[in-house]
Amino acid sequence: MTHAKVLRWLRTVVVALYIFCLLSQWEGRVISAWLPIICGSSFLLSEYLHPTYRPIFSRLSPSPSNAAAALVHLPLCLPHASDNNTSGIRLINLVMVTMTSVTLGDVRVVRSVDVQSYVGLKPSTARKSVSLLRRTETRPLMVVRASKEGDISVKSSGLSIEESEAAAVAGNFPDPPPPWRPSAPKGTPNVKPLPLTRRPRRNRKSPTLRDAFQETNLSASNLVLPLFIHEGEEDVPIGAMPGCYRLGWRHGLLEEVYKARDVGVNSIVLFPKIPDALKSQAGDEAFNDNGLVPRAIRLLKDKYPDIVIYTDVALDPYSSDGHDGIVREDGVIMNDETVHQLCKQAVSQARAGADVVSPSDMMDGRVSAIRAALDAEGFQEVSIMSYTAKYASSFYGPFREALDSNPRFGDKKTYQMNPANYREALVETEADEVEGADILLVKPAMPYLDVVRLLRDNSALPIAAYQVSGEYSMIKAGGALKMVDEEKVMMESLLCIRRAGADIILTYFARQAASVLCGMKSK
Ligand code: PBG
Repeated sequence: MTHAKVLRWLRTVVVALYIFCLLSQWEGRVISAWLPIICGSSFLLSEYLHPTYRPIFSRLSPSPSNAAAALVHLPLCLPHASDNNTSGIRLINLVMVTMTSVTLGDVRVVRSVDVQSYVGLKPSTARKSVSLLRRTETRPLMVVRASKEGDISVKSSGLSIEESEAAAVAGNFPDPPPPWRPSAPKGTPNVKPLPLTRRPRRNRKSPTLRDAFQETNLSASNLVLPLFIHEGEEDVPIGAMPGCYRLGWRHGLLEEVYKARDVGVNSIVLFPKIPDALKSQAGDEAFNDNGLVPRAIRLLKDKYPDIVIYTDVALDPYSSDGHDGIVREDGVIMNDETVHQLCKQAVSQARAGADVVSPSDMMDGRVSAIRAALDAEGFQEVSIMSYTAKYASSFYGPFREALDSNPRFGDKKTYQMNPANYREALVETEADEVEGADILLVKPAMPYLDVVRLLRDNSALPIAAYQVSGEYSMIKAGGALKMVDEEKVMMESLLCIRRAGADIILTYFARQAASVLCGMKSK
């Protein structure tokens, strides 16, 4: 007989004797008084010793049902005036108070297991004969746990390996916790299981399995933080980009970089707000070695030598016309002349200490020209991240407000790509690869995930995606209006950009997302 069977049998005897003693109040017969005591206590002892049933025993701790049970039985434990030999009976009752508390706890749970309405892959029939004495653990819904998590102690049986094996061969081993089949709500139809060979939900069953099979991950090392800088001392909030500022290059910038590094973001990209007086049609300020960007780079590199600094190579912050290139009288953006300026800009940035120069201008042939210019000046180690597929997007609106860099006339459609085009991105990819780009970038990110995937599948180079200002602001606005959960949408958007194939993501969320990744409250 198995341990559980013995226990069940013992319990039946104990309860029968208990009822018998209560009904008869048969004090005179010593045997009948002591038998239940022996049975009851051996039962309790086995409960206590057997690790399987320890959770049930733990129900002896006060709970409403236990307290009620004790209250009902307490009077029976008190001496009766008419009794002359009541100690035996009182002891029995004391044991019974304890046992009933345990049993009552069970009853509550057993009742909640509605056998008839349960529908699973294999409708259970085992539960049809539930008895009030059946052991069922009280446990909160959805949590399946035999004992407290930290409690791994099991009383040693004292048996040798051979003895344990022999016992197992004889079918004589301690029972594991009883299987638990959670009940379905009332009204759930009782159906035949679908004959499915593949149930993809099996691999999503638990957090551990889901984590094991997660295909894409996001870490702070994938993130690049774009920062706006200006000549002033104060940090000026950018209206359309909550949480973003034009940072004072000597104070706010250093502080922001410090905070970013603190959560593991060690890559930044700089965007300058240039005073109008320094802007010109040819944008010569772009390669002033003492200009805002080179100065900020030198300061940052002095303070944080291991930081990775990306720079923006384009004329728009320096152009009085607000275009990425030099504008001819008839409105044409001059390609090769602009490239000449961009080369000087890139070299100036490299001289200041930039690690990666990033042409965002979309002029033709600028990657090979910049590569040659850098190499000619001895900057072979400086990388080029080319904005390979940069679309003429309305998602740049908040950025242009941030830098006050709206084109004075026209749009950027003669150099930035048509949002309707996909194949064209391949033309740009091939050109940039041949010209020597180290990283290929797609911009914007979320509405262009197909393009990110296209580049990923057609190049062995690292792919970057730029989650631009408009994408950032929309998530911020949705969160502020309580339309979406800002933090969750932020994390999902970044993970999805990674899934599409981006190695790195330029995002204004970099610091906030990295805070979430390291378990800190974002602020
Ligand atoms: C310009 C540049 C732009 C952005 C980055 N570099 C704006 C533009 O092309 O008009 C946009 C970034 C953003 O919207 O977050 N060289």
